Amino acid sequence: MERLVIQGGHRLEGTVQICGAKNAALPQLAATLLSDEPLTLTNVPDLADIRSMLTLMEHYGVVVKGPAHATVTLDAAGARNLEAPYDVVRRMRATVLVLGPLLARFGSARVSQPGGCAIGARPVDLHVKALQALGATVSLDGGTIDARAPEGGLVGGRIVFPTPSVGATETAMMAAVLARGETEILNAARDPEVCDLGACLAAMGAQIEGAGTHRVLVRGVERLRRARHEIIPDRIEAGTYAVAAAITGGHLELTGARLEHLSAVGAALEAAGVQIWPTDRGLMVSRTGRLKGIDITTEPYPGFPTDLQAQFMALMSIADGASMIRETVFENRFMHVPELARLGANVTLQGTTAVVRGVERLKAAPVMATDLRASVSLVLAGLVAEGETVVNRVYHLDRGYEALDRKLVRCGARIRREDA
Ligand code: EPZ
Repeated sequence: MERLVIQGGHRLEGTVQICGAKNAALPQLAATLLSDEPLTLTNVPDLADIRSMLTLMEHYGVVVKGPAHATVTLDAAGARNLEAPYDVVRRMRATVLVLGPLLARFGSARVSQPGGCAIGARPVDLHVKALQALGATVSLDGGTIDARAPEGGLVGGRIVFPTPSVGATETAMMAAVLARGETEILNAARDPEVCDLGACLAAMGAQIEGAGTHRVLVRGVERLRRARHEIIPDRIEAGTYAVAAAITGGHLELTGARLEHLSAVGAALEAAGVQIWPTDRGLMVSRTGRLKGIDITTEPYPGFPTDLQAQFMALMSIADGASMIRETVFENRFMHVPELARLGANVTLQGTTAVVRGVERLKAAPVMATDLRASVSLVLAGLVAEGETVVNRVYHLDRGYEALDRKLVRCGARIRREDA
């Protein structure tokens, strides 16, 4: 098992190339099961989660070429409708995204129900509700979701989500593209990654409009065609490096990033005393003055993203004054709090709210990563903690950040990766 050893106290200066979005690539890899023509995806990030999904695609008989230079071609012409094994599903919740495509393409699907994970129960009831609205019969058979389409295949219908769900919206969109007739999805998640899935499906020949808004309309088609699609940049990776610049009082250009995907984060950073502005190559983040404690609440897009809550908390831990951080998307996304406290952060938890009282400086200590975004908040805190911070279990990091330590070292951080 590897760990990162971080020598705190170095300002970051330089340029970071932002990769393709993990959470856009994952559903698009699953979408290849909908088609018997090849799909080529470009700007695919090189991440453990992506490799897991590619392995799962090969399990279904999809021929995978690449990735080579962030390009991968998948051909599902010979795909077989097998069961997604539990040991693959339990490692990554996003594997549930194969449910909709398998059901739409083959008329039935059996996928292990993903267990909960570090950040909450994360049920799949909204995915099931969407498929039932398209005529599917779905049952839970000893931990396996068993879904069957009607005789003639899925039928277009109306899906109204009680709350926006990224994955359930993506399941609904993918299942609807081959359903007979028209599907209307209301209270859909509006995330850029959902919008990008819509663009990818349209490139494959789907009749889809409104992806990325609260109302998505899909007119079913017989089959999909060969397509090529470029994955959007990763706004969570970009937001993470923006916090890295802010927390070290540095100055970073994030090439490939799109500020319009980070408006709530940009507003919060500016309120905290950070400068952030668009450039023709991406965006620039700089902090010269004092940091100010501000309040944030995580919400479905376009609100402040839950995936940047832990990173922002690390920033607030050394700000002047207090900051209230409310987590409304997941019920247990404060696993980073006790670890940040080990570095000297002063955080008090009250239910779904964390009160952070800024301290003059953090002090290095060995800490433990628990989930993907919590682990990167510990790296960010380690960049400014006095002394040498050791972040254990960095495999969590490698799930969602391509070459994080290398990118930070290139901007002046003192980090080494070593075997624990
Ligand atoms: C996606 O997860 C992302 N993952 C998550 O990123 C992200 O945190 C989350 O959206 C919220 O933005 C991928 O895209 C692969 P949801 P997802 O369905 O789709 C509840 C990361 O770090 N819910 O929008 O699983 C759920 O429990 C990951 O990259 C149901 O109740 O999230 C949560 O409280 C972490 N029933 C809320 O909805 C359901 O059927 C939002 O979840 C589905 C979800």
